[in-house]
Amino acid sequence: MSRTRIHSFAVSVDGFGTGEGLSLESPFGHAGHRLHEWMFATRYGHTMFGKDGGGGGVDDAFAQQFLPGIGAEIMEAGKFGPPGWQDDPGWRGWWGPNPPFHTPTFVLTHRPRPSIEMEGGTTFHFLAASPTEALDTARDAAAGQDVRIGGGVTVVRDFLAAGLVDHMHTAIVPIVLGRGVRLWDGLEGLERDYDTEAVSSPSGVTHVTFTRKTVS
Ligand SMILES: NC(=O)c1ccc[n+]([C@@H]2O[C@H](COP(=O)([O-])OP(=O)(O)OC[C@H]3O[C@@H](n4cnc5c(N)ncnc54)[C@H](OP(=O)(O)O)[C@@H]3O)[C@@H](O)[C@H]2O)c1
Repeated sequence: MSRTRIHSFAVSVDGFGTGEGLSLESPFGHAGHRLHEWMFATRYGHTMFGKDGGGGGVDDAFAQQFLPGIGAEIMEAGKFGPPGWQDDPGWRGWWGPNPPFHTPTFVLTHRPRPSIEMEGGTTFHFLAASPTEALDTARDAAAGQDVRIGGGVTVVRDFLAAGLVDHMHTAIVPIVLGRGVRLWDGLEGLERDYDTEAVSSPSGVTHVTFTRKTVS
């Protein structure tokens, strides 16, 4: 059975998944890269950017779960590009010619455009659809594998609110952002539907997983 998964979704201790003031120069606004420094320091993070080295341990063990078993990703407009990318017909995402997804990747936007085939197996498709419709489309493309919800913050919140997420890994990063886009708003009592576990890393990050309870 194909599952819906979220991996390495980073949140500040005060619950923000991105900062304020997003732009081409600052994809996470005033948060800078602080939400993901833990991941860039891992072996996985180094491999992702074609570099050797990087640390093992707890952070790497979680980061390594991003790709295996995933057949498609859903992301939202705010992850694909900075505010206003919809006005640039040449915008192809942040990640260069070979994005780190390697699967069909569905970008939710109210201003769809033709699909873009990238190197390494990533093809960006653009669609305006409800979370349920988007998931049906991504599941077909995933050919029996799991679908990852990649972010930004609003899409993760929308899929959680719609009860469509089977497994989520959040990395709670020990920084206080104070402003930005909140992940948890409107999700009161979310934990009731999930088995939760937490592991802290020497980096200061706490990895919290939510795995949907099985109905017996
Ligand atoms: N913390 C993390 O681990 C993490 C991971 C990934 C990304 N991020 C960050 O999250 C931020 C973006 O998050 P966000 O909450 O601002 O925005 P977002 O969730 O990425 O995107 C919101 C946009 O998606 C489009 N959209 C939403 N629902 C739609 C639907 N049902 N159908 C069609 N289009 C829909 C709309 O764009 P249109 O105007 O095009 O319609 C809307 O403005 C960025 O800073 C990104 O870097 C964080």
